[in-house]
Amino acid sequence: MILLQTSALTMRFAGLVAVDAVDLAVDAGSIHALIGPNGAGKTTMFNLISGLLPPTSGAISLDGADITALPAYARAGRGMARSFQNIRIFASMTVLENVLTGLHASIAPGLAAILLRLPRFRRQEIDAVSRARAALDLVGLATRAGDRAAALAYGDQRRLEIARAIAGNPRLLLLDEPAAGMNPAESSALADLIRRIRDAGTTVLLVEHDMGFVMRLADRVTVLNFGRRIADGAPADIRRDPTVITAYLGAKVAARLNAA
Ligand SMILES: Nc1ncnc2c1ncn2[C@@H]1O[C@H](COP(=O)(O)OP(=O)(O)OP(=O)(O)O)[C@@H](O)[C@H]1O
Ligand SMILES: [Mg+2]
Repeated sequence: MILLQTSALTMRFAGLVAVDAVDLAVDAGSIHALIGPNGAGKTTMFNLISGLLPPTSGAISLDGADITALPAYARAGRGMARSFQNIRIFASMTVLENVLTGLHASIAPGLAAILLRLPRFRRQEIDAVSRARAALDLVGLATRAGDRAAALAYGDQRRLEIARAIAGNPRLLLLDEPAAGMNPAESSALADLIRRIRDAGTTVLLVEHDMGFVMRLADRVTVLNFGRRIADGAPADIRRDPTVITAYLGAKVAARLNAA
């Protein structure tokens, strides 16, 4: 079953086609990687899928429903969550509070209930805190819940972003370069985490430049180059694809990946 589909998705900026008629199909329950050189259009694809940018043309569907015209919050409401290439956390808030900001859409108790601290709101608040703590537990940050986010090391801040994104139990999780800046031990722990997230029922679409990471983790890979889809298939086929090797991987990296 296809969870996310884009059809001829196109984004034109002044004088530049950043995403050029891209067809993408992400199977439910899979880990799908979107790769390609710098400027290939990967983050722009995420911005189109999550609703931060309106496409110039083309369509996006989630679970068979056309969501092309829906605003970002409505897509979040339908179970889409994302992390950002440049970390976006609230540095002066605690780790737990940062995760709670990812849950506000699903809490929405109404202003009166908040002001009067009605029991319904208290229950929802307690429920949100326990969901946030569960997300922190999953990413390995449970003991840091009360610390200021600014005090976290870089790799932990990336994990915090993932915790915030998964706290609402999304159907589709978009991760933009989650392993960037991580050492091999951290990125291998991250790969385990992403597998656990998938096994818990969340479909994952990720952008990543670390090819070892992608090839070990992804069920399927789509390759972009200058906004166009140039390849789509299983990791073992992608890393042997001459077009992909020329446009992105390079002969040396491809040889190393194919020997591994
Ligand atoms: N808001 C914007 N306005 C104008 N041009 C943009 C905008 N956003 C992205 N671009 C351009 O679109 C192209 C694709 O950018 P995008 O950020 O999607 O690439 P990317 O594949 O994520 O690259 P990287 O691997 O470096 O993150 C680039 O040429 C970029 O400069
Ligand atoms: Mg990018």
